[in-house]
Amino acid sequence: MTQTVATIPESELLDGEMKSAFLPDGTRIALFHINGGYYATQDTCTHENASLNDEGTVDGDRVTCTWHYCEFSIVTGEALNSPCSEPLQTYPVKVIDGVLHVVC
Ligand code: FES
Repeated sequence: MTQTVATIPESELLDGEMKSAFLPDGTRIALFHINGGYYATQDTCTHENASLNDEGTVDGDRVTCTWHYCEFSIVTGEALNSPCSEPLQTYPVKVIDGVLHVVC
């Protein structure tokens, strides 16, 4: 069974931007709007716990953690270079009546 765990108005996330949202347990996640699509990943870098919302930069379909310059695929969460090897957890995002819904 899936459930919506976080929502944000679509108008608050412009193309090429990243924003944070929170799961019911307080876990911070990263929401992305890239190439007309919406994506969500865990906010914490899999290397040394940097926040992607605070320390990351978005370039195309990649987010870079600027602590040690790991790149991750925003779409799949895949770690694309060292020193990172673990992927980011990803979450499905649905748009319903102009609102982004992150589902688990
Ligand atoms: S903490 Fe993100 S690359 Fe090292």
